[in-house]
Amino acid sequence: MKTVIGNWKMNVGTRESVALARGVLLALRGKRTLPEVVVCPSSVALSEVRKVVTRSHVGLGAQNMFWEAQGSYTGEISSRQLTELGVSHVILGHSERRQILGETDEMVHEKFLHALESGFTPIVCVGETKEERDRGEQTEVVERQIRAVFTKATWKNKQTVFVAYEPIWAIGTGVSATPEDAVLMHKEIRTVLSSLVPAAKKNHIKILYGGSVDGKNAYGFLREDEVDGVLVGGASVKISQFKEIMSAAIEVIEGHMQK
Ligand code: PGA
Repeated sequence: MKTVIGNWKMNVGTRESVALARGVLLALRGKRTLPEVVVCPSSVALSEVRKVVTRSHVGLGAQNMFWEAQGSYTGEISSRQLTELGVSHVILGHSERRQILGETDEMVHEKFLHALESGFTPIVCVGETKEERDRGEQTEVVERQIRAVFTKATWKNKQTVFVAYEPIWAIGTGVSATPEDAVLMHKEIRTVLSSLVPAAKKNHIKILYGGSVDGKNAYGFLREDEVDGVLVGGASVKISQFKEIMSAAIEVIEGHMQK
């Protein structure tokens, strides 16, 4: 299976989000093979988008979630509120939140534990800056992030956890990593996780690549066995691009079925 997740960020309002969601469903209509597709609108659009995707094959994700279920936390969104909205997936520790809003590894860890406990499918983002890569520190940085987040984490059997490797220098820049870069890092991530997570849970960890994925380069990432899917920002709010990305996933899945 391959997974395609659209992170619509703060780029579209409710009306456009509803139109995009309809476009996604339309693009998948009548397809015999379906990738796992999840859309993550802004929190203000979740309830309207839910009406479109409900009872469909497309999952609904949030872009962030607080680590408490309820309380006096002005501006935050809780697991309870998201559950009520039919949200199943939640992006945690996106680099924009880490870099612009000061989210730390510890905060992401708290959010991760809470998301697991509340039955969500977390999508944990990790990745190095350009400077860190230039210094050759990318593996060390990502390993530190993974250790900080996954320490003492337990989750129910069959609950899936996504890790999205998103090198910060590739996000929104039009310069993606190469599939080889992604494969190398995904292998590292799996190695680190194998020391932190019991064997039975390992099959339920999926690793996505994110960072300037578009209709042209998606196939190159998705065809790699090490890449379980893609997390798409900019190209996910352009329906023609997103369609191409979903088609690439379908092509890869169908290719596997023929083997
Ligand atoms: P991008 O963003 O596809 O626009 O590079 C990816 C992300 O931030 O998840």
